[in-house]
Amino acid sequence: MIRVTSSQRGEPIFHLRSGDSSYVFTVFHGYLLHLYCGAQISDDDVEYLLVRIGHDSVVPRPADTYQEDKWFSLDVATQEYPTNGSGDFRKSALAVRLMEKDGRTSALAGTSTTSLRYESYEIVKGKPTVDAQPAVYAGEDEAETLILTCKDPASGVTFKLYYTAFRDFSAICRRAVIENTSREQLPLDVLQAYSASVDFTSIEPQPELLHLWGNWGDERHIERSPIGHNTVSISSKRGASSHHHNPFAALVTKNTTETSGLAVGISLIYSGNFEIAADTDSFGTTRLMAGINPVDFTWRLEPGESFVTPEAVLSISEEGLGKMSRTFHKLYREHLCRGAWKDKTRPVLVNNWEATYFNFDDEKLLAIAKEAADCGIEMLVMDDGWFGLRNSDTTSLGDWFVNEDKIRCGMKKLVEQVNALGLKFGIWFEPEMVSPVSELYKAHPEWCLHIEGRDKSIARDQYVLDMTRQDVRDYLFDSMAKVLSSANIEYVKWDFNRNLTEVGSAWLPAERRGEIFHRFVLGTYELLERLLTAFPHILLEGCSSGGGRYDPAMLYYSPQYWTSDDTDAMERLEIQLGTSMVYPASSMSCHVSDCPNHQTGRNTSFRTRGHVAMGGAFGYELDLTKLTDEEKALIRQQVQEYHRYYDVINRGDLYRLILPTDTVNSKCGKCASWMYVSEDKSEALVTFVVIRTSVKPIYFLKLQGLDPKAQYIDEESGAVYYGDTLMKAGLNLCKRYTDGESVVIHLVKKQ
Ligand code: GLA
Repeated sequence: MIRVTSSQRGEPIFHLRSGDSSYVFTVFHGYLLHLYCGAQISDDDVEYLLVRIGHDSVVPRPADTYQEDKWFSLDVATQEYPTNGSGDFRKSALAVRLMEKDGRTSALAGTSTTSLRYESYEIVKGKPTVDAQPAVYAGEDEAETLILTCKDPASGVTFKLYYTAFRDFSAICRRAVIENTSREQLPLDVLQAYSASVDFTSIEPQPELLHLWGNWGDERHIERSPIGHNTVSISSKRGASSHHHNPFAALVTKNTTETSGLAVGISLIYSGNFEIAADTDSFGTTRLMAGINPVDFTWRLEPGESFVTPEAVLSISEEGLGKMSRTFHKLYREHLCRGAWKDKTRPVLVNNWEATYFNFDDEKLLAIAKEAADCGIEMLVMDDGWFGLRNSDTTSLGDWFVNEDKIRCGMKKLVEQVNALGLKFGIWFEPEMVSPVSELYKAHPEWCLHIEGRDKSIARDQYVLDMTRQDVRDYLFDSMAKVLSSANIEYVKWDFNRNLTEVGSAWLPAERRGEIFHRFVLGTYELLERLLTAFPHILLEGCSSGGGRYDPAMLYYSPQYWTSDDTDAMERLEIQLGTSMVYPASSMSCHVSDCPNHQTGRNTSFRTRGHVAMGGAFGYELDLTKLTDEEKALIRQQVQEYHRYYDVINRGDLYRLILPTDTVNSKCGKCASWMYVSEDKSEALVTFVVIRTSVKPIYFLKLQGLDPKAQYIDEESGAVYYGDTLMKAGLNLCKRYTDGESVVIHLVKKQ
């Protein structure tokens, strides 16, 4: 997977062959220079690809290379991990600053010029655990990791760069570690430390940054922004990865499609403030980088301490976006998600949120559970409102004890009765929050994030707890553990319903307050890990007002995530297909909800709602006690169908066939279509939804991913087609549909 050869100068060239991709870089007078990232190539020494150009008056040359190579400049060279202030004027990945202490100083103190020079390398089998942050994992024969040790010659500070290449995935994992080994034993401030930076030469005909933007109830819409000679960047300063931008982007060309062209996705395994940026310099090199947002960030390292960046994952495809996504899906499903539920079939659940909101008691929950059992549903989830005095969203967050006015029989009894009906039981928490009207806030007003002397902004009537504090985390662990061990609770929905403001923390000294955003995220990770260690059987579902923290780091703890608070099937099409750019179907929690839909007022047939919700971890979110017999019969049928298709949906390969945005104003109205194909290509499930119908209902749907030479039977009609016919000529779906009508076709390979 990783081959190291020697350049003519005797410096190493690193060729990482990962899956069917190549990633090559070299050492040039100690500088790490990027050479190639794309489909696999045979040569190792591709140093001829180095960019050497530029006019002396605008392009500085490093002192130590000038005599030998007058044309070499960091400002035009393609770099692996560009640093600030030493000759590359483009965006830097790294900047650190030595500080003074106790009257001790250095000529370097207070300056942020940083230089990174290669010293040595090591290759280890598999993927070492660097620290406790979420990261991809791999067995010894599945991956190799290259660890480069570099130094800043003037200060003696050490930088370690980690690169993992995989046997079976066209992906590279990267991260950096900064160790304060400063010669003068001074403190060091990390000002910015991105996880990865990659320089691409000649992205033709025009580089674009594909990214996922959104808002509450409207997450992860696909947008492609041309990358001109300016920085195109997406970011979060919200303390969460956010509804607004997902920590993912792909470098594509103007001509990249689902099935062709370059698509290098970069996905950051991080739940806090991030930035992903791209720009093209005046010589045509496009730099793509991802990491912690340097805004509101500094990290103090005392001598001997180190800082580890989150991990960034590159998925490299020259066969379009579909392949890039499938690499992410499988890698995240198999090498990021963990725990008891990683491979286990997830239960079909009913959640009472849209059924009752805060207005429920034990009897109402049991009535829903009875209907659920009758319909074949496998778990009841008791959402917000079961604790403290919580009858609306204005009180009680933090008071994690049962409201016995509502759950009169007590938690244990309630769960026993639900279990007796044959259902599992799940519960909602929002651990990182506190309501100003709560016992917790009364006892510990200092436990929320705040800055003395400033007013605290309020959102959804709540404040955010200071997760950087050990006492806060201990309180949360103890109070949650008490509930979780009081009854047979098998699932937790972990919510996070507001963003961070006035980010201060009284216990940290001024020089460490730039650490609070990142420490908050690390504190949350620690609590998640502690709870999962104590309750390893629990299925965790992440949530943040829907998908406001739907990121790879959360998937490390919770193999499924509530995709969006918008449960309207038509709206969900764009949201789910956007989410599928990075995240596997098995992680996307999707529920059939009531009509008219609570968020949009739209009516969509029960059948279509089911077809769309089967795009991920399937469930219901409506009052089962109010349904007609006919609707309940449909639920029974849908649950059975979901079980039948479970493997192909959750473990198969996804192909996006039609994005709703592709068809606006086209001849066939507006529609969406996707399909899953099992890994051995023995079955496929195609979903086609007409969002807005047309007078010219011409739909020839070309499938993907099938075995071209195999014959497939359409289970419902009995028609038999060769795979190549279905992929080249397509299925004939021409018929007049009503708005919101959908079709699901199950194809099975003929023996
Ligand atoms: C958030 C979640 C919802 C629900 C409510 C409860 O908005 O996204 O699914 O749990 O909180 O308050």
